[in-house]
Amino acid sequence: MDTVNRPFRSVLYIPGSKDRALDKARGLPVDAIIFDLEDAVSPDAKVDARATLKAALAEDGYGSRYKIIRINGLDSAWGQGDIDALRDANADAFLIPKVSRPDDVQAVADLLGNGKPIWAMIETPLGVMNAAAIAAHPQLYGFVAGTNDLAKELNCRYRADRLPKQMALQTMLLAARAHDVIAIDGVYNQFKDDDGLRAESEQGRDLGFDGKTLIHPAQIAIANECFAPSAAEIELAERQIAAFEEVEASGQGVAVVDGKIVENLHVETAKKTLAKAKAIAEQDAE
Ligand code: COA
Ligand code: MG
Repeated sequence: MDTVNRPFRSVLYIPGSKDRALDKARGLPVDAIIFDLEDAVSPDAKVDARATLKAALAEDGYGSRYKIIRINGLDSAWGQGDIDALRDANADAFLIPKVSRPDDVQAVADLLGNGKPIWAMIETPLGVMNAAAIAAHPQLYGFVAGTNDLAKELNCRYRADRLPKQMALQTMLLAARAHDVIAIDGVYNQFKDDDGLRAESEQGRDLGFDGKTLIHPAQIAIANECFAPSAAEIELAERQIAAFEEVEASGQGVAVVDGKIVENLHVETAKKTLAKAKAIAEQDAE
């Protein structure tokens, strides 16, 4: 599948130390997996987790799911060892926690030495403020919002509407879009609250995120639904394209559909919607 249109609706964290969860993920309908060595793994399990994860990736069985390894930071006792142990593992990309500047990406790129795509957690105040420079790094492929760390760093309160985090979320989105980088929203901690997850997923989608990071299999279906174009959106996109082609043939540049203007820029968005729907249908068929 072409990576530009590749879906990232659901991106599930799996503790790299947990055999059972590593195995379970082989049958879960997620677009991507973050195999975690950082905060989901306790310090005394970190060294063993490298071998557990490497073996699971070698065995594979993850199909077309995009495989991301989240390493520990290079400022920790484990970051360098994670890279040494997993640089050649069967994964698509590496995710660096708490990225604050482009140099943090370059340092990992140098240690990896294989040109593999790098993703950055944006979860520190400096990371948000340097988001544009980080996104501009040539090996940087995606951003993941670290909304729990962000709340800790900002000292902000939890609110269902995420008002205190909006500036950070939108700053990282602007940076991602400016540099053609994927942007995945943060996790929803109350993994048994479906209504809350849906509301937050819809907000992230409306802001422009490509998908949501998840902590539990029970969250997958809602993220997949919220970040996919709906049947009504697909139908509208088809009508917009048809209506525009019709007026264009008669030498005009503006069509009207459902009482709203449709110009060439709306047609570009409509075509993107259809391409996304097609990529999702292909992914779901696998
Ligand atoms: N990925 C894959 N499988 C998972 C999973 C995950 N993130 N979370 C739970 N499962 C599996 C369990 O192994 C269990 O499988 P089983 O039925 O085959 O035994 C099943 O889903 C049901 O799990 P459940 O009992 O409801 O949850 P739990 O109490 O075992 O775990 C959490 C709850 C929150 C501790 C667990 O979901 C988790 O560790 N999530 C990831 C946390 C994380 O990665 N944090 C870092 C980023 S914020
Ligand atoms: Mg974090």
